[in-house]
Amino acid sequence: MLEKIDDLLVEVQNFQSSTKDETEQFRLKFNGKKGIMNDFYDALKQIPNEQKKDFGQKINILRNAVNEKLEELKSSTESKIILEKEDLTRPGFPLELGSRHPINLVKNRIIEIFKSIGFAVADGPEIEDDWHNFTALNLPEYHPARDMQDTFFIEQNPDVLLRTHTSSVQIRYMEENEPPMRILAPGRVFRNEAVSSRSHCIFHQIEGLYIDENVSFADLKQTIQFFTTELFGKSKIRMRPSYFPFTEPSAEVDVYWGLNSETDYRITKGTGWLEIMGCGMVDPAVLKNVNIDPDKFSGYAFGMGIERIVMLLYQMSDIRMFFENDKRMLEQFKSL
Ligand code: DAH
Repeated sequence: MLEKIDDLLVEVQNFQSSTKDETEQFRLKFNGKKGIMNDFYDALKQIPNEQKKDFGQKINILRNAVNEKLEELKSSTESKIILEKEDLTRPGFPLELGSRHPINLVKNRIIEIFKSIGFAVADGPEIEDDWHNFTALNLPEYHPARDMQDTFFIEQNPDVLLRTHTSSVQIRYMEENEPPMRILAPGRVFRNEAVSSRSHCIFHQIEGLYIDENVSFADLKQTIQFFTTELFGKSKIRMRPSYFPFTEPSAEVDVYWGLNSETDYRITKGTGWLEIMGCGMVDPAVLKNVNIDPDKFSGYAFGMGIERIVMLLYQMSDIRMFFENDKRMLEQFKSL
C-alpha cells in the first residue's frame, strides 16, 4: 500500500496537461467522489492502529501534491487562455488628457501679468466676519451701499457671512503686514442673487492692492493700462468716475474693444467700450481702520470679476456654463 502511494506521488508530480479536459480528468481521478483519495481514506479506517500513523502521513503528502498540481494547472491554463484571446500587437488604449478650467486658466494668466510687475498673491477665508467684509472697508452698519451686495449670512448670524467680494483680503493683509505692499487676491465670492445668464450666486474675483509712500492715481492708471495691453492686447482705456465706499476717488475702467465685427457691436452695445473693473485710491478711512498712517502712505485698489473676463476673451455668453462644467465645453480648453 505505501509503495503504491509513492508511485502515485511520482505520477502526480510528472503529470502535464494541455487542455482543461485533461486537467478535469486528473482532478476526478484523484479528488472525485469515487477517486483515489477517497479510497485511501476508506482504507485508513480498516488498517490496524499501529500502521495508521505512517499511512496517514503518506496520504497527506499525496493529497497536498494533488492539490498543488491542480492549482498549478489551473493558473497555467488560465494564462494560456488569456494569451490566446489577446492580440498583443494591438495598439494601446489612448489616455485622455485633462484640461484646466477656463476660470483657472485666466486667473493664472492674470496672476502672471501682475507678478511680472512685483505683485504677490494673498489669500483669505470665504467665510468672513462683518468687520473684514464690510465695516473696515468703510461700510458701517446701515450704510446704504451694503445693499449693493446681497449677502448670504450663515445661521442668521449677522457676523458670519460668505464674503461678497475679495476686498476683504485687502483688510486682512493690511492688518498683518507693513507697507510697502503689493498684492493680488484671487478667490470665490458669493451673493444672494437670482441666477441668470449674466449673473450667478457664486463667482470669482481678483482684487489688487498697492500701498506705499506717494502712490498716485497716475500709478493706478499705468498699471491697469499695462494689464489690459498684456491680457487683451488693447492699450486704449478710459476711467469713468464711480463710487465705492473703500476708495476715493473711485473709477470704473473701460477698455476700447473696437467695432470690427458684429459681435463687437453686440457686446459693446455699439459703443466699442467694455467695462472690466472697479478701482480707486484707497480711502484714508480704510487705512486708519488697519492702523496704517494715511498721512504717510497712500495706495490704490482694484477689483474685477474673472467670469466676465473669460466671457470676453472666449466669447462665451452664459455665466452658468462655468458651473455646469459640461465636458464638451471644458474640452475646448485642452490646448491652452
Ligand atoms: N469690491 C468691488 C465689488 O465687488 C470691486 C472693487 C471696486 C474692488 C473697486 C476694489 C476697488 O478694490 O477699488 O464690486
